[in-house]
Order: sequence, then C-alpha cells, then structure tokens
Amino acid sequence: MARFASFVVLAISLASSVAAVPAHIPLAGMPVAKRDALIETLRAVKPEAPPPPLAFNGTKLVNDAAHPWKPLRKGDQRGPCPGLNTLASHGYLPRNGIITPAQLLNAVQEGYNAETILARRFTYAAILADGNLVTNLLSIGQKSPLTGPDPDAPATIGGLVNHGPFEGDASMTRNDAFFGDNFSFNETLWEELVDTANKFGAGKYNYTVAGELRYRRIQDSIANNPTFEFRNNRYFAAYTETLLTANLFLDGRSTDGQLDLKDARSFFADMRMPDDFHRAPRPLAAEGTDYIVNLHPFSPGYNKDGVNSFTLDPESASWTNDPMGCKLYKWYVEQVVVPAYPEPKGVLKRNLNLNLQYYYDTFAGCEQLFPYGKPEKDDDDN
Ligand code: HEM
Ligand SMILES: *[C@@H]1O[C@H](CO)[C@@H](O)[C@H](O)[C@H]1NC(C)=O
Ligand SMILES: *[C@@H]1O[C@H](CO)[C@@H](O)[C@H](O)[C@H]1NC(C)=O
Ligand SMILES: *[C@@H]1O[C@H](CO)[C@@H](O)[C@H](O)[C@H]1NC(C)=O
Ligand SMILES: *[C@@H]1O[C@H](CO)[C@@H](O)[C@H](O)[C@H]1NC(C)=O
Repeated sequence: MARFASFVVLAISLASSVAAVPAHIPLAGMPVAKRDALIETLRAVKPEAPPPPLAFNGTKLVNDAAHPWKPLRKGDQRGPCPGLNTLASHGYLPRNGIITPAQLLNAVQEGYNAETILARRFTYAAILADGNLVTNLLSIGQKSPLTGPDPDAPATIGGLVNHGPFEGDASMTRNDAFFGDNFSFNETLWEELVDTANKFGAGKYNYTVAGELRYRRIQDSIANNPTFEFRNNRYFAAYTETLLTANLFLDGRSTDGQLDLKDARSFFADMRMPDDFHRAPRPLAAEGTDYIVNLHPFSPGYNKDGVNSFTLDPESASWTNDPMGCKLYKWYVEQVVVPAYPEPKGVLKRNLNLNLQYYYDTFAGCEQLFPYGKPEKDDDDN
C-alpha cells in the first residue's frame, strides 16, 4: 500500500511538472531519471538532414512584402542574437522564436545569404547545447516564465540565452551574464560601439571597427567581470559575430564595406531589417577574420582569480593553434555534449548521433568522434 501510494504521488508530481514544461525545454544537464520521464511525454521528431546551399545565391530584396516586420506579441521569445531575432520578427523564422535546425538554416541562408558551413556549425552547436533533442526544437530566446522553483530544473529553461558554450562574455551589445541580463540590447554598450565607429571608422562600422571593438570589449570584461570566460567556442564566436555584423547586416548592393550605424542599430535594437534591405551579394560569414585577428592578436583564457587576473589557457582552441577547427570540434563533443547527456538511449541517443553527425560534417579533415559508439544502421529507423 505504501509503495502504491508513493507511486501515485510520484506519478502525479511528474505529471504536474511535465504539464508546465514547453516542448523546447533543453534536456542538457537534466538529471537522468527526470529527463527520461519527461521524454516519455514528448513527441519525438527525427531531425531532417540540413538543407542544401541556396540555388540562387546572389543578392535580392529580402525585406519584402512576404516578410513584413511585426512587433513582438506576448510570449514571443527573443534572445542574444540580433541576426536570428530579426529573422523571427520578419517571419523568416516562426515569429514565436521556437524553431527547428532546418528552419534556422533555411532562414539564415534565404534572409542573409549566410554561408552554409558556418551556419550549420552554429546551428548544430546550438541545438546540441541549448535545444530539445527529442522534439527537435530550440528557443532563440529567453527564459520561459513557465518554470517554477523546481530544484531539479536547469537554471534557465530558455534556449540560446543559456550562458554556456555559446552565449558568452564580451559581446558587443549585450552584457556579460555576471552582470545579470545577458541577452537584452544594452544602450550603454551600443554607445561604446558608436564611439569605436567614430574613432576608427569615420562613423561607420567596418572591419577595422570590428577588430577594435572586439579588443575593447575583451579589455572591459577583463577589468570588470571577475568570472570572465573567453575560451573555445566562445572565443571563436566572439570574433565571428563582429564580422557577421560587417558582412551580413550590410546591404548586398553596397560595395564599400562600410555599414551605416542607423542600419546596424535597426538589427541590434529593433530586430528589424532596414527598408529595402537586400541580402549579401554572395554567401558570406566570417570573411575578415585574418584582418581583425591580426589587428589585436589575442589568445584564449579566463579571469582566474577575480578582475584583472586574465590567465591564458593553452589547452583552448584558438585561431593560431586550431586552424582547421579539430580541437574545437573535439572540445565541443567531449566537454560540452557528452557531459550534458549521461546514459542516453532510444530516441535521445539516435537524435544525439544525428545532430553530432551534422555538426561533424562542418569539420572536414578532422577525426570524427563517436562518443556513443558508431550508430548502427537500424538506429536510424527507431
Ligand atoms: C546560424 C545560426 C546562428 C546561431 C545559432 C546564432 C547564435 C547566436 C548566439 C547564441 C549569440 C550570442 C553570443 C553572445 O553571447 O554574444 C549570437 C550573437 C550574435 N549573432 Fe548569431 N547566430 C546565428 C547566426 C547569425 C547570423 C546569420 C547573423 C548575422 C546575420 C548573426 C549575428 C550575430 C551577432 C552580430 C551577434 C553578436 C551580438 C552582440 O555581440 O551584441 N548570427 N548568435
Ligand atoms: C553560388 O552559386 C553559383 C551558381 O550556382 C555556384 O557556382 C557557386 O559555387 C555558389 N557559391 C557558393 C559560395 O556556394
Ligand atoms: C542570463 O540572463 C537571464 C535573464 O536575465 C537570467 O535569467 C539568467 O540567469 C542569466 N544567466 C546567467 C548565467 O546569469
Ligand atoms: C548596460 O550596460 C552597462 C555597462 O555594463 C551597465 O552599467 C548597465 O547597468 C546596463 N544597463 C541595463 C539596463 O542593464
Ligand atoms: C574603416 O574606416 C576607416 C575610416 O574611414 C578607414 O580608415 C579604414 O581603412 C576602414 N577599414 C576598412 C577595413 O575598410
């Protein structure tokens, strides 16, 4: 009887906690028993193969009648990425901000002409760390209001806003998580961007401004954030994001590489493409990396012991020690993905393997890792 009663209590508490959980809740880091009980209640979806590169990869009007900007509705999720926020506010992504990897890839290619390999690398890194691998859903945004004070729940239920391998420190217009809100547009930081553009770009944003601002934001975090982390995925992404700004927020008909700050602000602050915006003239992503890295060579590390204690970490992948990305790939699989999903089985294991495969496909020439053993052919069909 006692056993039966406790079973009923368990079943009820599971049912009630499950009812409050949205289908995009990240599974990373969830205790195994809770996670596996939750998975039973989710509709499992097999991830589609990543969509191919664009057939037509030139510039065209993308702020068009079929993709009007609309203001946020209650519950729409937006996060730290101005690129994705804007795509959702124009309907290239579902306007509620809950998306699948294939939707994400179609949207960044169609809306910005983002280069396929880098887009895939970002997308599968994101779903693996911040998405729900069973439902195949990811929030581009913020903490959901739905979680109660459940001690077993992950710290935030959100998606991309989760502070971790992706959302990180020394962003251009968002604060470090240490200071609280780590994903909203911040006016003070925007003013720093404007100041940097005035000093180094004659009032425009270009590669020189990108390199100077990247360095300045790193110095800010070293001096003010005792928990400053700047290694591996975050290290690379931080540089790349300053270049996505220069390359993909620039109108595709422009040939001078100088981004107007009014247009930049439209993306960063208003999640809105400028009127008549045309996407990039060819697939682009991190072009300009050599230029900005050489402007202020800087190695990965972290504040080891409070502010101003920046310590290099030679173990971290960097522009100099990892030109092919193999160290980054290994780190991501072994240090981010594997610890996040202990003892995966069934559909979780199948979808982990599929997403890991799609992530690996962006690291041509690196040794592939199979942390769960080589998937068997049948795994694909369950
Ligand atoms: C392909 C999938 C993408 C994913 C998963 C993604 C995800 C993210 C994430 C998690 C951040 C926050 C990092 C931080 O802490 O600063 C971020 C920042 C950023 N993303 Fe994206 N992004 C993607 C594509 C793009 C594209 C195509 C663009 C440009 C058109 C873009 C522009 C930016 C910029 C400029 C930032 C930096 C914001 C700042 O520092 O203030 N992203 N992205
Ligand atoms: C763009 O499309 C053209 C024509 O199909 C193709 O030759 C070229 O390789 C594509 N560029 C990229 C970077 O995919
Ligand atoms: C990031 O910001 C959100 C919203 O303010 C907050 O709930 C979350 O705790 C922050 N993450 C960290 C690690 O501080
Ligand atoms: C914006 O960032 C600055 C500099 O880090 C900080 O002092 C300020 O409190 C932030 N503003 C908001 C509204 O979070
Ligand atoms: C950025 O703009 C400044 C001022 O016009 C110019 O001196 C610099 O060469 C530009 N940098 C690039 C990479 O275009």
